[in-house]
Amino acid sequence: MSHFSIQNGVLHADSVALPAIADTYGTPTYVYSKTALMQNFGAYADACAGRDALVCYAMKANSNLAILDLLAREGAGFDIVSGGELLRVIAAGGDPGKTIFSGVGKTVDEMKLALEKNILCFNVESIPELHRLNEVAAGMDKRARVSLRVNPNVDAKTHPYIATGLKANKFGVAFDDALETYRAAAALSHLDVVGIDCHIGSQLLDDSPLLEALDKLIELIDALGKEGIDLHHLDIGGGLGVNYGAEGDKPPVPVGEYLGRLFKRIDAWRADKYDGRPIKVIFEPGRSIVADTGVLLTKIEFLKPGAEKNFAIVDAAMNDLMRPTLYQAWMGVQPVTPRAGEQLAYDVVGPICESGDWLARERALAVEPGDLLAIMTAGAYGMTMASNYNTRGRAAEVMVDGDQVHLIRQRENPADLFSLESTLS
Ligand code: LLP
Repeated sequence: MSHFSIQNGVLHADSVALPAIADTYGTPTYVYSKTALMQNFGAYADACAGRDALVCYAMKANSNLAILDLLAREGAGFDIVSGGELLRVIAAGGDPGKTIFSGVGKTVDEMKLALEKNILCFNVESIPELHRLNEVAAGMDKRARVSLRVNPNVDAKTHPYIATGLKANKFGVAFDDALETYRAAAALSHLDVVGIDCHIGSQLLDDSPLLEALDKLIELIDALGKEGIDLHHLDIGGGLGVNYGAEGDKPPVPVGEYLGRLFKRIDAWRADKYDGRPIKVIFEPGRSIVADTGVLLTKIEFLKPGAEKNFAIVDAAMNDLMRPTLYQAWMGVQPVTPRAGEQLAYDVVGPICESGDWLARERALAVEPGDLLAIMTAGAYGMTMASNYNTRGRAAEVMVDGDQVHLIRQRENPADLFSLESTLS
C-alpha cells in the first residue's frame, strides 16, 4: 500500500497533508514516510527471520542519519562505499561490525578508518586492492576480513548505467579469474578470506538474473571448498527494483518471493553438496528499502505555454533529482491538490540553465502557477545524488511519522555553499 494517498482531495504522507509541509518547511522538500520505511525493511527482515542472514542497507540510496538510525534500530547492517559513509553509520549509531565496504577504489585512508572501526568485511574488487589492503592491515598489526566481489557475467537487463555484472563493467573480479584471485588472497598474511559477493545491477524487476548469479557463486564456493578455502558468508548484493508507475511497467517481484526462492536454492545446495554446513547470507538492498518511502515536493513557479511544448517550471531541478536527466528515468508526477478541468501535456522542468534540466516529460496535468506537485517514488538516489549546481542550496528533508513531521535535514543556506572557498588576497 502506498503511504502517499489523496485524502479529502489533497495528497497526504500518511496522515499529514503535504501543503502543510510546504507551508512550514518550504519547497523543494523531500518528504519521507517512516511507516513505509519500516514496512520495506520489515519485508526483508521477515523473509530472513530465523536464518543466519544480514541485511546491509546500501546507504548510497539515501544516507540521511534519521533513516540510518531507524534501520540500525531494526537490526540492519550497512553497505558503504566511502569513508564518509562509514562516518555516517557511526554518527547514526549503526554498528561497524555489521558494515561491509564495497567499491572499486578504496583509498589507504579509507581502509585504515574501516580497520580501526573493525568493520565486518571488505568487498574487494581487484588484486591490487588485495595487496593494498594487506599492506595497510599489516601496518596496523591487524587482519582484514575480505570477500571477493565476483563479476558473474549475468545480464541484469536494466539501464546500462546501472548494470554492473557484465564483463564489460568495471566491477568485480571476472568469474574466470575468481579462483586464481582467491588463491592470491588466501596467501596474503594479513587477510582473512571470509566471503564471496556480487552485485549485478539495479532496478531489476525479475529475480531470474539474481538467481542465475547465485548459482554462479555457489559453483565457486564449491570449487573453493575443494582447495581448502571455506567461506563464512555469501553476499548476493542488492538490485531489486521498485514500481515507478509508468504506464505498462511491469511490477517488480515482491521481496518475500525473491528471498523465498533464493533461500530455497541455498538450502537445497547446502543439504546436497555443502554437508549442511552453515553459511551466512548477506543482502545489500538500497532502492527497494527507500524508493517508495519518499516524494519530492515542489511548487510550480510559472506555466510557459509554447507552440511545440508546454512547460511547468517548478522550484525543484536536476540538481535536486538527477535521475530523469541522467538515466532518462520516468518519475511519477502527482498534483498535490488535483484540479478538475482540462489537462494539457507539460514538461516539468527546473530553473537551471540546461536543457537537460527536466523532471518529467509530456505529462497530462491540469495545473496553475503556485500549485504543488509531488515527484513520486523519489526516496532512493534522490537526495544522495543532489548537487549545488547553480549555487542552489540542497532541499530540506522531513520525515512523517503518523501525524508528526520531523525535520531531518535543514534546507541548505546558499552562504554555506561558499563558506569553504577563499579569494587569493
Ligand atoms: N551494492 C552495491 C555494490 C551497489 O553498487 C549498489 C548500487 C547496491 C548494492 C544497491 O543497489 P539497489 O538495491 O539500490 O539496486 N543511481 C542509480 C542507481 C545506482 C546503483 C548503484 N549501486 C539510480 O538512481 O537508478
